[in-house]
Amino acid sequence: MTDSHARLEPNGRERLELRRLEVGLGREYLAMVDEFESAGEGYPYNNIELARRDFAAFVRELEDEERGVGLPPGVFPQITFVLVLAGRTVLGEIRFRPSVAPAHGPGPDNIGYNIRPTARRKGFGGRQLALVLDEARALGLPGVRLAVEGENPASAAIILKHGGVLLPRPDDAQAVQVALYWIALRWGGVPIAPT
Ligand SMILES: CC(C)(COP(=O)(O)OP(=O)(O)OC[C@H]1O[C@@H](n2cnc3c(N)ncnc32)[C@H](O)[C@@H]1OP(=O)(O)O)[C@@H](O)C(=O)NCCC(=O)NCCS
Repeated sequence: MTDSHARLEPNGRERLELRRLEVGLGREYLAMVDEFESAGEGYPYNNIELARRDFAAFVRELEDEERGVGLPPGVFPQITFVLVLAGRTVLGEIRFRPSVAPAHGPGPDNIGYNIRPTARRKGFGGRQLALVLDEARALGLPGVRLAVEGENPASAAIILKHGGVLLPRPDDAQAVQVALYWIALRWGGVPIAPT
């Protein structure tokens, strides 16, 4: 797996890339988190208390999470990437759990993401997803499963735009709240049959 994917924007000036978090991105990362909090959304995606107290320890925690070190049973290794514009501005975050075997029932999905409020509706959410799909393809995954909770037309739009198909709803109470999508990454990449 690559450490980052660098892309030139169509205007040839601004570079958009997925990067793992590093200490040098700490200030910009926390600026993104501040924006979520000011917008009243909070930041329930990572250990932000640790990130504010000791960013280097936060980065080490994410590295452990990626290697599967110290994870409680049932929690899968996760790679946290950030979407970085022009080598500096953190626009969003995307979390990728490559070892989850998708099934139709409830359980963890492969990918979760967010774009900072001021950067939304400019195509960055879709670009961020596309870049992580490249990572998944590079690992040889047949496809990925994504869960969309409640009404979230923006999230559904970017998944559909990237080839997502709605999976049959599992027959339980959670089904009312969560829509599950499958994005096939190679020919014949079908989700594992319902268990
Ligand atoms: C979901 C999210 C990542 C989308 O990011 P984004 O940068 O705005 O996404 P994009 O600009 O690439 O695309 C958004 C698409 O949704 C559409 N959209 C946005 N808001 C919409 C709305 N309220 N109703 C209908 N469509 C909407 C846009 O028109 C666009 O579609 P288009 O490309 O066909 O025009 C962002 O809204 C977010 O971070 N939300 C909070 C966290 C979250 O919900 N994460 C996903 C959990 S499943």
